[in-house]
Amino acid sequence: MASESAESDSIFRADLLRGQVALITGGGSGIGLGVSELLASLGAHVVIASRKPEHFETARDALLAKGLSVSSVALDVRDQERVRAVVDDVAQTHGRLDLLVNNAAGNFYAPSATLSPNAWKAVLEIDLYGTFHCSQAVYQTMKSQGGGRIISTSMTLHYRGWPQMAHATAAKAGVDALTRTLAVEWAPDRIRVNAIAPGPIPTEGVRKAFTPPAESGIPDVFAAATERMESYARDRIPLGRWGTPRDIANMVAYLASPAGDWITGAIFVVDGGEWLAKG
Ligand code: HXC
Repeated sequence: MASESAESDSIFRADLLRGQVALITGGGSGIGLGVSELLASLGAHVVIASRKPEHFETARDALLAKGLSVSSVALDVRDQERVRAVVDDVAQTHGRLDLLVNNAAGNFYAPSATLSPNAWKAVLEIDLYGTFHCSQAVYQTMKSQGGGRIISTSMTLHYRGWPQMAHATAAKAGVDALTRTLAVEWAPDRIRVNAIAPGPIPTEGVRKAFTPPAESGIPDVFAAATERMESYARDRIPLGRWGTPRDIANMVAYLASPAGDWITGAIFVVDGGEWLAKG
């Protein structure tokens, strides 16, 4: 469990999640890393699950150096058998699994007319199938221990049309549906299931996935961010600034905490008002 020397710089009580065990897919970079760090700083033991050793090993070592209780494991959420093995191992090693954060995602701009079957499959399998594989895998452990929380990452782009993102918007619409259905189905087992829809948060992964091809005519919001960060935020994001991983992590911590005890099946938009204001 978290060392006594670890300190939280968050607004939450430092021992809010003490003794709890959290599994965070894609927890080694971007938003996932922000979530890993906050939950660990609130006393949880965090297991970072990620495809890329350069992400999960670096993240684990950086958080361990801060005195936090963290471990890591290689996981591709598309591999259902491997997901089951990882979840069983976490439950056995720690004796419980309180929180699953389905954060792993893969997205890129591509025209629907020429999207290859494999490209469609890759994104659907990571974003939607992966969320289901992990949620299904934690069910028995959470049920046996008297409850748990599942929090998935959605998006806002499917609330309207979003050109060249058919695969990702379809997958995230599925994540929303899955969230609502599992919430109702698993509420009797005291498993709360919610989702968070982040707005624009200029992490490295998002920059890569959301830099549209020059010929597409789609505005490159992250290039705009670099060149005129302040004016973009002022003109397009009602709350006047870009998001940070901590903005999302705060919502995860809230939902994971007893403050969220009566919340299930909800999809929280955390985006500074961006999608509502989008023309
Ligand atoms: C067109 C592409 C492509 C691209 C991959 N493909 N990238 N097609 N444009 N930019 C196609 C490939 O050609 C291939 O199809 C198929 O997708 C699978 O690609 P692989 O590279 O073999 O797969 P894999 O190594 O498993 O990579 C998964 C990936 C990749 C999703 C395709 O992009 C990835 O790992 N991305 C990193 C994670 C990520 O994207 N994070 C960003 C999340 S941000 P063919 O037919 O050639 O075999 C986010 C925020 C959203 O979700 C909210 C924003 C506001």
